[in-house]
Amino acid sequence: MQYKELANTGLKVSKVAIGTWQFGHASVWGELSKMEEYQRIVDEAIAAGVNLFDTAKAYDMSEKVVGEVIKGKRDKVILATKLSGAKFDYDTVRSELEGSLKRLQTDYVDLYQIHWPKINIPGTWHQADMEKQDYEDIFTSFSKLKEEGLIRFAGVSNFRLDNLKEFSDEALDFLVTDQVPYSLLWRFYDLEGVSEFCKRKNMGFLAYSPLAQGLLSGRFGKDGEEVKAMIRQANILFNEPVYSRALQIVELVKEVAKEIGATPAQVALKWTMERDVMVSVLAGVRKVKHLRENVAAADIPLTKEHQERLNKASLDFQKTLLPGLQLWIGDNRKEDIEKLDIKAKK
Ligand SMILES: NC(=O)c1ccc[n+]([C@@H]2O[C@H](COP(=O)([O-])OP(=O)(O)OC[C@H]3O[C@@H](n4cnc5c(N)ncnc54)[C@H](OP(=O)(O)O)[C@@H]3O)[C@@H](O)[C@H]2O)c1
Repeated sequence: MQYKELANTGLKVSKVAIGTWQFGHASVWGELSKMEEYQRIVDEAIAAGVNLFDTAKAYDMSEKVVGEVIKGKRDKVILATKLSGAKFDYDTVRSELEGSLKRLQTDYVDLYQIHWPKINIPGTWHQADMEKQDYEDIFTSFSKLKEEGLIRFAGVSNFRLDNLKEFSDEALDFLVTDQVPYSLLWRFYDLEGVSEFCKRKNMGFLAYSPLAQGLLSGRFGKDGEEVKAMIRQANILFNEPVYSRALQIVELVKEVAKEIGATPAQVALKWTMERDVMVSVLAGVRKVKHLRENVAAADIPLTKEHQERLNKASLDFQKTLLPGLQLWIGDNRKEDIEKLDIKAKK
């Protein structure tokens, strides 16, 4: 395994981390694995040198399952979880954290993150924007939790440039990560300048959906698996006409994988973890075989030339989408979805 420092904290994080949304949210991912499979995933991941595990209150049973499978191994795990909701005052945040600590069966969280900023997108479930007070509250509440020893570090998730710029310099020094969707099929945060901003402020990215929910593994396609899970149907990339264009990138990933004797999933993960701003890639797994393939990605021989070829194709793909488009269909204005001619499934 390879490691990278989490911002300037001195904490070394494995470049491959495990996303555990799939440990507990059957209504979006479909049938879950058995508890023994999750136990084997965590045991094998730790044995392979993985130390970062990401969960969230919003992932239904995930925190509870994670709490069970890391029992007796807390000292080997950097535990990241997220706060849901739109209130960031100390009492609310503290009570949210207490719930997470209970479910996770621990007395501290290593990285506590705000899951989503408030965003106002007319016609969607996003009904309000962040206010000045929210940014102040986040800094005050998280600082206090840190002083109390309940969290070690604080981060945000899905925060865009407009959001990050509203924090004070002191708060930006304090926050260590922005967890964002980032992959060869999702470069929004590069095009919008968030990655440059984060590098300047010494914050790192944690990449979520680095495999584009499995699309970059090459298993979906014209003759591949059917797209069944609700969470994939809610993703722009799995919907025509974007899907066919995304599959062209998948073909390139397959070509590179063949050239270097790796799998497409490994190429996609390795490319992502090599980005300057990246601390770690959160690869979601519910099968031991995927875990084994993904942890081996850190060591594949992906050259600078391969990375550049993939980088260019990936940016060209993103530029074919509407500027400002969000990954999840429900986070976009209806008019923008219609402009892309996406027929969102109900
Ligand atoms: N902050 C946020 O708002 C946010 C949003 C989304 C995700 N996340 C975090 O990021 C993690 C990862 O994101 P994600 O789960 O959306 O996407 P992902 O990691 O790109 O994809 C995960 C899915 O891809 C498939 N997969 C994994 N490894 C594979 C392999 N080697 N070959 C073929 N298929 C493979 C599996 O599908 P099957 O299980 O169906 O086989 C798995 O469930 C989550 O678990 C969560 O911790 C955060």
